[in-house]
Amino acid sequence: MNPDLDRLQPYPFEKLAQLKAGITPPGELEAITLAIGEPKHHPPKFVADELLSHLHGLATYPSTKGSLGLRKSITTWLIKRFQLPPASLDPEQNVLPVSGTREALFAFAQCVIDPQQQAYVLMPNPFYQIYEGAALMAGAQPYFLNTTEATGLAPDFDQVSSDVWDKCQLLYICTPGNPTGAVINNNTLQQLINLAERHDFIIASDECYSEIYFDEHQPPTGLLEAAAAMGNTDYRRCIAFHSLSKRSNLPGMRSGFVAGDAAIIQRFFQYRTYHGCAMPPYTQAASIKAWNDEVHVQHNRQYYQEKFRAVLDILSPVMDVGQPDAGFYLWPQTPVDDTVFSRELYARHNVTVLPGSYLSREVKGINPGRNHVRIALVAELDECIVAANRISSLCQAL
Ligand SMILES: Cc1ncc(COP(=O)(O)O)c(C=O)c1O
Repeated sequence: MNPDLDRLQPYPFEKLAQLKAGITPPGELEAITLAIGEPKHHPPKFVADELLSHLHGLATYPSTKGSLGLRKSITTWLIKRFQLPPASLDPEQNVLPVSGTREALFAFAQCVIDPQQQAYVLMPNPFYQIYEGAALMAGAQPYFLNTTEATGLAPDFDQVSSDVWDKCQLLYICTPGNPTGAVINNNTLQQLINLAERHDFIIASDECYSEIYFDEHQPPTGLLEAAAAMGNTDYRRCIAFHSLSKRSNLPGMRSGFVAGDAAIIQRFFQYRTYHGCAMPPYTQAASIKAWNDEVHVQHNRQYYQEKFRAVLDILSPVMDVGQPDAGFYLWPQTPVDDTVFSRELYARHNVTVLPGSYLSREVKGINPGRNHVRIALVAELDECIVAANRISSLCQAL
């Protein structure tokens, strides 16, 4: 077996299942799960209809590159959303559909890392677990950047030495972040692009939460937007990852894309022809409909805003919690150890949240996820309110 498999940690949800094992929560309380970032809002019906009307696609092998129609709808969306110069994005060269960003974030490291060199893959800590697994399985060393209240819940890139940047082959950023919700601003993105040029690395910007935000006039900026604004209109060293899972409540459809530097996209395309996870034709057809429509995305945002307002009204008097920059997670500090808090919440109130320390590693004596929990406001409003009241009761009892 590949010995690197032994370096993989148990996935957070396995740890969570162990934490809950043997506990019987009060049966009279309905179970509420806010642990997984799986949107429970309804998927758009017009997307489902399109999917169904393309089931004849079952009879054909899809191409890795995807249909031109899909790539065109993706480029049109990107140009509008991030105000990119229209001529800078070519559907033939700058975008590639992927079967959800999870597989793409993983596969990307396998494609771009040269394990012959001592390779670092830099990533935030806490982080979306795929980044670490991808680095390890690519034969690289994960290098964690703590995100704490002191760093504004985003990595402090100024703390990274030039020696470390030299070894960096790939930097994963997540903006808006999972779990902290922090958005990396335009200046910082541009600094990173300059660092990538100076130290010869690639930036993979995971932007799958970019469409869940609070102010309709201030959407989170993106890596390609920052690149174009500094004149890097060929997006050198920059790749952005986007998904329909959170934007359009379609996590089961497995649809996303990567976009950016044509030379990197070309090599990733070559890799993917072997990797073999082309997007099914009916998913491609349905994805075109989803990327072409913003109305359902606005409604989705409004619903999240309503839930954040209601839940924060209940939780802010009893715990250290604030509205994130964007995304659908709360990342409160817990009055006791995060695993104890999560276990007690389940045991006494039948609510499941994710201990923050399951999403992070201890670095320099600090585990930045400790004493935090991740609460995904994915359930319906009334369920989120019930859960918030139960969390409040626990905080008051502890
Ligand atoms: C930060 C982050 N990136 C990527 C993904 C993967 O999303 P998908 O594969 O559904 O596009 C998730 C899913 O939870 C996530 O939280």
